[in-house]
Amino acid sequence: MTIALFSSQKYDQASFDACLLNYTGISISHFEQALNEQSALLCQGFNAVCVFVNDVVNEAVIKHIAALGVTSILLRCAGFNNVDLAAAKAHNIKVCRVPAYSPEAVAEHCIALMLTLNRKTHKAYNRIREDNFDLNGLLGFNLFKKTIGIIGCGKIGLALINILNGFGANVLVCDPYAEQGEYTLCDLDTLLSQSDVISLHCPLNDQTHHLINEHAFAKMKQGAMLINTSRGALIDSKACIIALKNKQLGYLGLDVYEQESELFFKNRSDEIMQDDVFSRLVSFPNVLVTGHQGFFTKEALSEIAQTTIQNAHEIANQLPLRNEVK
Ligand code: NAI
Repeated sequence: MTIALFSSQKYDQASFDACLLNYTGISISHFEQALNEQSALLCQGFNAVCVFVNDVVNEAVIKHIAALGVTSILLRCAGFNNVDLAAAKAHNIKVCRVPAYSPEAVAEHCIALMLTLNRKTHKAYNRIREDNFDLNGLLGFNLFKKTIGIIGCGKIGLALINILNGFGANVLVCDPYAEQGEYTLCDLDTLLSQSDVISLHCPLNDQTHHLINEHAFAKMKQGAMLINTSRGALIDSKACIIALKNKQLGYLGLDVYEQESELFFKNRSDEIMQDDVFSRLVSFPNVLVTGHQGFFTKEALSEIAQTTIQNAHEIANQLPLRNEVK
């Protein structure tokens, strides 16, 4: 199997090279470019593409790569909202993903966002380097006994709940499919109105697009904290700016952003920022943005490479596909 791996970074090459040592018959060519309608022609001579969260795998791209002989799409991520599954099926292209590489990695990153926003360690770091030992402006709150609302209680949501229970927080969960657990199940409105901190862990789909909009912000406790490590378009960014300006939203921690495909995973420090919504968001002192790094641990990278190559191996050898997305 010959795989064209798009949006490749040095760390992808390192983790896939290490994993390939255990396999024969699979070769990978790394392309820095994202897969999209312009770069699809690079797939000539390959029978699989390997893509990440911001590669574009829409109907036009699928039609193009199918015509070039691509028969498999290997997602090296869990979410598959960027792939037109109906088009893949129509062109007889198999789609596999990595369903769970390290839910703990993302859950622990959520905690990093919560604690940094709350205890302002990023500001303290800079102050101390300038011999400024003033505590004014660094006041936080205890997570102990606070109400934390989790929207989407799957693998990542559950890993986060395990940590939050250790903090002694009261955990509320809104998930139409969740079973009973060490948390209180409730509906969305109850979660929005009672939570001090809200963290999003549901997938992005037609039902959840802009789940957090102006109406949701209006229902939140004044000064609540919102964390999103799931997918950017779960939040209406413009409504979010209004909620931050009128202080309805007290803290915002983002690892994902609606228009992130135009920005993330690249050093753009010598470019002029064209996204005014993003510029406004990062201008607030109570907003912390990381560039989709929730997954980014050694353990997760190794798991991603292993499962992706395993998926390729299963397709190449016509074995049952454990991680197929249909
Ligand atoms: P999962 O599939 O295990 O869990 C998703 C949960 O959301 C399920 O329990 C489902 O019942 C629930 N759900 C579905 N619709 C819902 C709705 N309308 N309201 C409330 N809950 C709903 O997924 P997992 O592995 O926990 O990942 C969650 C999301 O995290 C993924 O969809 C992906 O977008 C994102 N992610 C982000 C990463 C990062 O680096 N920041 C890395 C990996 C995943």
